[in-house]
Amino acid sequence: MMTNHNPPEVPNRSYLGTPATAPGPSGPQMLTHFLRIRDNPLRYLADMQAEYGNVVQFPIPRPPTYLIADAQAARQVLMASPRDYSKQTIQYSALSLVTGNGLLTSDGDTWRRQRRLVQPAFSARAIDRLADHVVRAMQRVDDRWLALPDRGAVIDMDELMMGATMEIVGASLFGADLTADADQLAQATLRALEVVVARARVPITPPAWIPTPANRRLQHAVGELDDLVESIIAARRSRLVDDTDLDMLDLLLAGDESGDALSVTEVRDQIVTFIVAGHETVASALAWALWCISGDDHVQSRMHDEVDSVVGAGELSMATLADLPYTRAVFEEAMRLFPPAWLVTRKALKDDTLARTHVPAGSLIILSPYLIHRDPQVWSNPHSFTPERFLGIDTRGAATATSYWPFGAGPRLCIGRDFSYAEGVLILAGLVRRARFDREPGQAPPVPLPQVTIRPAGGVRLRVSRRG
Ligand code: HEM
Repeated sequence: MMTNHNPPEVPNRSYLGTPATAPGPSGPQMLTHFLRIRDNPLRYLADMQAEYGNVVQFPIPRPPTYLIADAQAARQVLMASPRDYSKQTIQYSALSLVTGNGLLTSDGDTWRRQRRLVQPAFSARAIDRLADHVVRAMQRVDDRWLALPDRGAVIDMDELMMGATMEIVGASLFGADLTADADQLAQATLRALEVVVARARVPITPPAWIPTPANRRLQHAVGELDDLVESIIAARRSRLVDDTDLDMLDLLLAGDESGDALSVTEVRDQIVTFIVAGHETVASALAWALWCISGDDHVQSRMHDEVDSVVGAGELSMATLADLPYTRAVFEEAMRLFPPAWLVTRKALKDDTLARTHVPAGSLIILSPYLIHRDPQVWSNPHSFTPERFLGIDTRGAATATSYWPFGAGPRLCIGRDFSYAEGVLILAGLVRRARFDREPGQAPPVPLPQVTIRPAGGVRLRVSRRG
């Protein structure tokens, strides 16, 4: 949001030879900003946008660093000239310490080959099987609701969603037979991620090969991940696969018709990528959706009506998904206000002009769907939770991709988008069909805490009461 009607002019200065081309804090100011960045980088970016406008340059000489909170410029980077922008950024290289060279962090020809080989794991048929896993996870949640006292109980829905989405991504990857391995893998992944998130917050981090305690924790967790995945793959290769029962791991191992297939290391990298990219993202979106609906009787009763009439006493299934437009709109609106992947970064490979600002080759471009999703020039009443705004809009279309891109846009669009919509909408439907969610009187909203995804600080503790 731009609150300043006369944004500061481009200062006539340079940062160790890198000329300023956009307004932004000075070097001495920046020195006092590091604590703010460490405290809450999302709030910091929003503050910088409010102070300097939609394009902010930070006083960092190498790489020149820009926050670009402009919808058209984001479209240019992600969709119009994606080949001019790479993922070789500090954020993605920190993530690759855990995910290796998986689909999320790879670039260029390596990425193109991987995307082709990984795509079958996200085919419509593969996503169809997801419904079974969601139904199973929801049954466990339903059992929990049965034990609720009549006046309901306060439950941390964020924690519950983290568990459910981890179970679902694990079951989708490995089938039902490997739950113990999935759990161990997930724990090792989370331990490694913790170190990486902490690294990304501190301006100067020792390189990963220096044996600091944090780096030793990282190496240990990554070593554990490697061993686990290797043994899962070895076991899988020696088993006879029934063609009707393929899970995502089978599809990753299969390769294409030309005989090209991912190596063991590449499969490891994809598995870890899916756990990192496919678990906390969906859980955060759901936790925020539940927070939003808990404050809105009208929305919740519309969801109840829809789910009761579509699912009734029957089973949730992929077939019901298309008939839940309002529930989908709730999920979409929650991701507008709280897009889990709050930061998307790119390196400019050549000189360019973004939002009328010259950005030199080599620049770090920081884009944030969080800021664009709340831009009053793009969205009316941007801070209000109004799922109705998504009814009748096809968010898969390119037109909305400029103003709404929780899953990114262009060729690097999230490969798990359809998977996430199916999972998120079915889980929301499964939750509201059996329970209602309320805040306690005077309950303060959770503070959005930007980590790998935007997490609700302190969880989303809601009073859950059984319906009917
Ligand atoms: C609500 C849930 C999710 C959100 C908000 C989300 C968001 C995103 C975003 C914004 C990107 C693009 C990043 C960029 O351009 O720099 C992305 C890429 C990706 N996501 Fe997701 N994601 C979600 C769920 C999933 C799931 C469930 C999976 C897998 C099981 C997944 C796997 C990936 C992968 C592999 C990529 C890289 C794709 C490529 O570059 O080819 N995501 N995601």
